[in-house]
Amino acid sequence: MFDSGIGGLTVFQALREALPAAETLVYLGDTARVPYGTKSDETVIRYALEGARFLKRRGIKTLVIACNTMSAVALPALQREAALPVVGVIGPGAEAACRVTRRKAIGVIGTAATIKSGAYARAIATHLPDARVVSRPCPLFVPLAEEGWVDNDVARATATAYLGDLKHEGIDTLVLGCTHYPLLERVIGEAVGPGVTLVDSARATAKVVRARLEERGLLVAGAGPGAEGGDHFYVTDSSERFREVGSRFLGGPIARLEQIDIQG
Ligand code: DGL
Repeated sequence: MFDSGIGGLTVFQALREALPAAETLVYLGDTARVPYGTKSDETVIRYALEGARFLKRRGIKTLVIACNTMSAVALPALQREAALPVVGVIGPGAEAACRVTRRKAIGVIGTAATIKSGAYARAIATHLPDARVVSRPCPLFVPLAEEGWVDNDVARATATAYLGDLKHEGIDTLVLGCTHYPLLERVIGEAVGPGVTLVDSARATAKVVRARLEERGLLVAGAGPGAEGGDHFYVTDSSERFREVGSRFLGGPIARLEQIDIQG
C-alpha cells in the first residue's frame, strides 16, 4: 500500500479488517514529501512511480494506492508501469456512492488536486451518467486530522465554512474523497445534515481489493501472522511523528516501522 504519508492508515485499517490475518500488508508513507494534494500532476506522478518501484522491490503481489490524490492523478501511469494489479481508492468510492444515492445527487470532497482532476465525477459518470456531482476542496481537514482536532470547535467551524452551503445543493450522498476525512466523519456529518449518507472510500476499496485477490487466486487463506511475520511500515522521513500520529489513526501502536530512502 502506498500513501503520501499518514492518512493511508485509514485504508490500512479497512484492509486489515477485510483481509485474512495471514495476509501481509506492506505500507509506504512518503512522509518526507507529503502533502501531495497541493502539488502539480507531474510531481505527483513522479513520486507515485518512485514509490511503486520501491514497493515492487519488496516483492508485493498487488499495489493499493491508498491516497485519493495519487489515485486521481497517477493511476493510469501506475497501471502502465507497475506490471501487477493496481487498485486505487477513487473507483471503489465512486461505485459505492452510486449504489447508495437515492436522487443521483452526489457531493465529493477531497484535496485541491483530487477535486481539480475531476476523477470522482468521471468515475461516477461511468455508473450513473445522469448523476449531478457537486465537488468541494477541503484542504484544512488534513492538518486538523493529523493534529487530532477532529471533534472540537475549530473542526466544527471549518466543516461549516466548507460544507454549510452543500445543504442547499440537494445532495443525498457525500464521498469522503481524502484519506484523512473519515476521522472527521462526525463534524462533516453535522455540517451537511442527517439526510446525507457519507461514503468512506477506504472501506469500499478494501472490499474491492479482497474481491480482486480472490478472483485471481491470490488471497492467502487462514489465520496467523503473514509469511514475513506481520505487517511492515516504511516512511521516508523520521519515524517519530508517524508513530505518534499514526497510532491515533489506528487506535493502537505501530509495530515494524522503518525509515527508508525511496530511491535507494
Ligand atoms: N493522502 C492524501 C489524499 O488522500 C491527503 C494528504 C496529501 O495531500 O498528501 O488525497
